[in-house]
Amino acid sequence: MERERGPHILLIGFMGSGKSTVGRKLARRYHRVLFDTDRGIAEVAGMTIPEIFAAEGEEGFRAREQAYLESLAARDAAIVSCGGGVIVNDRSRELVCGLGTVVYLHVEAREAISRISHPETRPLLNGERSPAELLEERLPLYREAADIMYDTSGKNPGIVSRELGRMLEEKGLLWQ
Ligand code: S3P
Repeated sequence: MERERGPHILLIGFMGSGKSTVGRKLARRYHRVLFDTDRGIAEVAGMTIPEIFAAEGEEGFRAREQAYLESLAARDAAIVSCGGGVIVNDRSRELVCGLGTVVYLHVEAREAISRISHPETRPLLNGERSPAELLEERLPLYREAADIMYDTSGKNPGIVSRELGRMLEEKGLLWQ
């Protein structure tokens, strides 16, 4: 059954899948506002993401993530780059799906890690589970949430944003 969708284009995927860079490029090309959930959460909290994890744990961060997603429902059509774990909590996953068209940017764990230039800014990269384990655990959730799946393996964000932009244009979801 077709689900009811909001007006946004949401990018989801593992850390290092290129969501932020691709989001920035799409927003610029299609003249849309960009919301980056991590940036928004940090702004609202007045803390960096590692500071939030240190002070409030993952649970506190996820609650902030959920509240931030809720605030996007009132906004005009935008590009939204989501944090990599946005699909972990049922409620946040539901919110993501309700906000608009969800694009899953796939990347294998090894390539993802090689793309991350500041691993110290990702608290979960230093957690109990390896990136490969985390990705395996999340893969079904990314797939469940996605309207569109796009494999970024071996592709730079410029190519990804161009191909994805074209795909979204063809579907009538973006226009210049
Ligand atoms: C997280 C990914 C990060 C950030 C936080 C948690 C995750 O975002 O939201 O560190 O659980 O995968 P990026 O995917 O932008 O690195």
